Amino acid sequence: MKLLVLSHTSQSKLVETAQKRGHDVQVLNPDDLYLMISDSVNGYDRIYLKGERVSLSKTDALICRIGKNLSYGLNVVEHINRNMGIYTPSPADGLRIAADKFLCSQRLSQQNIRIPKTVMAYKPDDVDFLIDKVGGLPAVAKTLQGSQGVGVMILESKRAANTSLESMYKNDIDLLLQQYLEGGSRDIRAIVVGDKVSVAMERTANKGDFRANISRGGSGKKIDLTPEETEMAVRAAAASGLEFAGVDIVRDGDKSYVIEVNGNPGSKIIEITGVNFFEDLVKYVEEKAGKKGKKDDEDKGANSILSTIGAFFQPKASEPTRQELLIQKVRKNGLESLTFSEQKFLQDSGADLSFLWDDPNLWWNKRVDSNPFIKS
Ligand SMILES: Nc1ncnc2c1ncn2[C@@H]1O[C@H](COP(=O)(O)OP(=O)(O)O)[C@@H](O)[C@H]1O
Ligand SMILES: [Mg+2]
Repeated sequence: MKLLVLSHTSQSKLVETAQKRGHDVQVLNPDDLYLMISDSVNGYDRIYLKGERVSLSKTDALICRIGKNLSYGLNVVEHINRNMGIYTPSPADGLRIAADKFLCSQRLSQQNIRIPKTVMAYKPDDVDFLIDKVGGLPAVAKTLQGSQGVGVMILESKRAANTSLESMYKNDIDLLLQQYLEGGSRDIRAIVVGDKVSVAMERTANKGDFRANISRGGSGKKIDLTPEETEMAVRAAAASGLEFAGVDIVRDGDKSYVIEVNGNPGSKIIEITGVNFFEDLVKYVEEKAGKKGKKDDEDKGANSILSTIGAFFQPKASEPTRQELLIQKVRKNGLESLTFSEQKFLQDSGADLSFLWDDPNLWWNKRVDSNPFIKS
């Protein structure tokens, strides 16, 4: 499989994991790409790197690991995913939802997923009322876009609450106010891949802090989620429109709450738990893209026996099918070289002709009115 990774960093662990499974991986920095929307109604949208067109005709999937300059990064994700038709487990819409703590909370609540009481006000002039709505002090205030604990504050006194809310409002910074969960200094990060939790880690806040983020000095250890929490994490990722996400959960009393969904979960959890969630991610993407990776290590023994037997019973290389022969002809001479009935056969047999869209030598094919593959 050919994988494209969008990231500002090298993503060595992900790249190594995908390469071990036999995949070809390309990492591009989204900030280096130009996006082009064509004036054609039939989709010639493209991306360029340093003035050179980046062809994605052989790319099977896109993995997004974008932590900064999100606004441009999401335009790039949208372009590659929706305009150029490359599958990703992290579509731009989902990443946008996850990046906005209030919007994400709205989506979670729409799907009946428990979150702490949360309020938002454009003009937080009635602070007492707002604090009362989230269960009184202490309360938690959060900027909508923060991550790694930055922008998460605890308001312990009325004075702190009044002055913080006022200064944020005067500085045009949007804040949400949330019920303080007693268990919050210990939270859970669950990595969701598809409909499974790949690994979960309990994080404990550093002394003197209430935020359990590892980047704020918290410590972590691998744990097992309850079946309810597993379901909650999987549903929370889906509610945000993501097939790959880090879901933060806090246990308080006998209840568990989702406090946020992260579209770009960090990889520190791999060192801490010893579970490389990228393996699950890459396998999941293989399935989605319909491409097999190399067999897992466990299969190696069985494989080698099979290949020994296979050496005695070499199957004959199969003949190319009619569909394959016709596709070869299109690749060589363009769609026009086929008769109408051959074109019809390809269409009916569901042939993948997406390469036509990417090959400049075959562009003219798309302008032919009779081209049955064009949907306007
Ligand atoms: N409502 C809350 N009550 C108690 N602690 C909280 C609450 N919300 C967040 N925290 C603590 O603060 C940390 C950071 O909050 P979070 O919403 O996950 O933001 P970030 O995106 O910065 O990680 C959490 O991991 C948790 O330890
Ligand atoms: Mg968090």
